Amino acid sequence: MRIIDIIEKKRDGHELSKEEIEFFVNGYTENTIPDYQISALLMAIYFQGMNERERGDLTTAMVESGDQIDLSKIDGIKVDKHSTGGVGDTTTLVLGPLVASVGVPVAKMSGRGLGHTGGTIDKLESFSGFHVEITNEEFIQLVNKNKIAVIGQSGNLTPADKKLYALRDVTGTVNSIPLIASSIMSKKIAAGADCIVLDVKTGSGAFMKTLDDSRELAHTMVKIGKHVGRNTMAVISDMNQPLGFAIGNALEVKEAIATLRGEGPQDLTELCLTLGSQMVYLGKKAASIEEARKRLEESIKSGKALEKMKTFISAQGGDPSTIDNPDLLPQAKYAIELPSKQAGWVSEMGADEIGHAAMLLGAGRKTKDSTIDLSVGIVLKKKIGDYVEERESLLTIYSNNENVDEVKNKLYECIKISSEEVAKLPLIYEVIS
Ligand code: URA
Ligand code: CA
Repeated sequence: MRIIDIIEKKRDGHELSKEEIEFFVNGYTENTIPDYQISALLMAIYFQGMNERERGDLTTAMVESGDQIDLSKIDGIKVDKHSTGGVGDTTTLVLGPLVASVGVPVAKMSGRGLGHTGGTIDKLESFSGFHVEITNEEFIQLVNKNKIAVIGQSGNLTPADKKLYALRDVTGTVNSIPLIASSIMSKKIAAGADCIVLDVKTGSGAFMKTLDDSRELAHTMVKIGKHVGRNTMAVISDMNQPLGFAIGNALEVKEAIATLRGEGPQDLTELCLTLGSQMVYLGKKAASIEEARKRLEESIKSGKALEKMKTFISAQGGDPSTIDNPDLLPQAKYAIELPSKQAGWVSEMGADEIGHAAMLLGAGRKTKDSTIDLSVGIVLKKKIGDYVEERESLLTIYSNNENVDEVKNKLYECIKISSEEVAKLPLIYEVIS
């Protein structure tokens, strides 16, 4: 087989066979095919697309390019959740204990990563003593006993995706739905998920800016999942403004605790119940989505979900009394209000820009060696469609630095106030099952 023939075939709009897809994925991973030929092939895929079978075969080839996590010693159906990325997305912290509390095993492998705030592990380290340095055996034992544990990322998962993603980044080929979908799905599958629930974000703060693109990405990933035998469902949710009120590590933990207590922001609660219902249904702990939702609501109401959070935190060395007393979480020195310059309705709250402001305060990493300040961030008081009086606070900035002028200016730029009434935004645009 020759790579030049594969490039020409795709360039001319033909379908690649399973063998041809494996040939280029393995050849690139093993450095026997150079960047320039794979660049040309990626551009051909960008323009010509891939059909359902090709997308499935590409995903499988990327999964098989490296290690696969074996979760077979964990009882039950392992359901993983993936979000295509947003600002202030506290869902993982809520969903883990919530679905575990009704018996769905949550075996979470997580990273730290770059971004506006830390990753799930950084956030959990807001609990003094909490750690993810556990062995694979301990991890499996904990999930079997408590239905939930988190371990740091290890092993050589989907090396083909790492190389291809880096090449796409510099060749103008990131924004291809078959390539994005196979990239995301290959990582989830290699991490051992039996079933996958996807939260595809849409809007100005999301990877996909339009509803049409988000819908196509979601349907593509659901089909890939089914094609490779991993039942998959998806939700398309809004990312024109941050989710919930809190953006920051300890601040989001506090918000997650409130949500598990039944006192969280309405949008975060609703999204967690929607995604959680799909997880519980796929995990076969309820006969229908409706029954799954009832079980989750009941678990919040009875305190079982919150109790599960305590069990989980203390099993990995964290102090569970923090959950009853969130003031034990890292606290910033200063709480500074951002008063509105005019009265009116909030019409824009750029999620990306607010995330960036949180990063300037020290909540996120700029490079992989930066350290994170767990205590800082932003807590919104208003969302799009809310009315605000002149001088009324739009949000609180939590900082360890008294001078936050740069952050304030940035926030004033991205929060728009209209003198005419503005409608609230929908939260969930589509549920795909
Ligand atoms: N996220 C991924 O993991 N892969 C992509 O290709 C795009 C977003
Ligand atoms: Ca939030």
